[in-house]
Amino acid sequence: MKLSVIGAGYVGLTTAACLAQVGHDVFCSESDVEKLSKLRNGVMPLFEPHLENVIEAVRKSGQLHFGSTEEAIAWGDAIFICVGTPPLPNGDADLSSIEGVARAIAKRATGYRLVIEKSTVPVQTGAQLSKHLSVHGTNGLKYDVASNPEFLREGTSVEDFLHPDRIVVGADSTRAADLLREIYEPIVKQRFTCPIHSNSQKRKDPVFLATDTNSAELIKHASNSFLAMKISFINMVANLCEAVGADITQVAHGMGLDPRIGPAFLNPGIGFGGFCFPKDVQAFIRIAEKSGCDFSLLKEVDRINQGRIERFVEQVRTELWVLRGKKIAVWGLAFKPNTDDVRFAPALSIIRRLQAEGAHIQAYDPQAMEKACKEISDITYCSDAYKAAHGVDAVLLLTEWEEFRNVDWSRLAALVERPLIIDGRNTLSREEVVANGFHYIGVGGVSATPKVTASFIGT
Ligand code: UDX
Repeated sequence: MKLSVIGAGYVGLTTAACLAQVGHDVFCSESDVEKLSKLRNGVMPLFEPHLENVIEAVRKSGQLHFGSTEEAIAWGDAIFICVGTPPLPNGDADLSSIEGVARAIAKRATGYRLVIEKSTVPVQTGAQLSKHLSVHGTNGLKYDVASNPEFLREGTSVEDFLHPDRIVVGADSTRAADLLREIYEPIVKQRFTCPIHSNSQKRKDPVFLATDTNSAELIKHASNSFLAMKISFINMVANLCEAVGADITQVAHGMGLDPRIGPAFLNPGIGFGGFCFPKDVQAFIRIAEKSGCDFSLLKEVDRINQGRIERFVEQVRTELWVLRGKKIAVWGLAFKPNTDDVRFAPALSIIRRLQAEGAHIQAYDPQAMEKACKEISDITYCSDAYKAAHGVDAVLLLTEWEEFRNVDWSRLAALVERPLIIDGRNTLSREEVVANGFHYIGVGGVSATPKVTASFIGT
């Protein structure tokens, strides 16, 4: 089928590439001219495992094209709107880009279009969209509006799109629901050449959930807010573990063995970040407020999450006493591993707090330094974890990149001023770190001190 995708961010680019991968003829547009020219020249505007290879392959096979919004509107029978809905100062989602696309479709499209909102939008946006198309529609446009929220995670977006747990479709017409069923059939039946796994590996068929538009829109905000709540819950339990001398790793494990709870999203740490959870929790609080519901539970989820930053900084302060003039290594800047995204990254908030107290930061991240240095300038960006640790009073692990688990501890011990690791993601093996003479502080009671301290620079 000829499909259009408007907006080439994480969701748009993955959607366009993967729909082409499963056999559709896709046209993807991007209004940011610099980004569009990069895409047209085969340069990736973001780091996402597998995505570059998929795009290259489907472009070569002529199933994916990049161009302007106008071209995209003219191209596909169905148009996926994947533009950004960033937070406004009051927490509402900014829908101006969605409105802009709706107006362009209303003005330019002829014949029939299925207009699909894939960006994260507040409930009842579909109704607004439909009204806008009818008010501004010229050229006798016939259309349906549908909601098709996306649940992909950064760092695993291609895998999540091609092997989802569920595909949610909100449509108020049978025609729209049938069209979306047809579009997603290859994925529902897992009948496509997978760019990640050999086809012999049978993957679970996703559930295709067709419901009404409002419910589909709410499923997205509710799902993200629930996951954020789970993280804030385990972070509070981690605080309790520290207070009573229990081990959060054991507690989370014990909880997660109950299938009603499940082990996922029970990793304590410095809090959730990224371009989804923080803004979606805020937007959901606002949506509820406007509907007369005081979602105080989510306000607490947000307050707990904000509190992770200060709690972590206080831990550093407790260990280093005066922060002014201290040299601190930061391992990890991205809001999570396998992405170069630093939007609302807890690591950046922690760095700003430490800098405000006069600490000198030496940072390393495998992918996110280019984007981080646009956010924070006066820190030393280092080409590897060892350079970042040179002469420091403490090493802070803020993003759980795999490579930090494979550090050469004796090499590191020879570099640091003080063998102190504060692990904000409980990533490292406490036993291994301590066995190499480091003092290890984790989250939620996972701390230990070496029996014999490591040899230091010049001693
Ligand atoms: C999220 C949702 O998972 C995804 O379904 C939705 O489509 C978009 O938003 P993403 O923002 O990519 O995806 O990241 P995710 O993997 O969910 O992590 C979000 C944040 O929570 C990260 O900062 C991560 O470090 C943190 N997190 C996650 C925890 O602190 N503990 C956990 O157990 C899991």
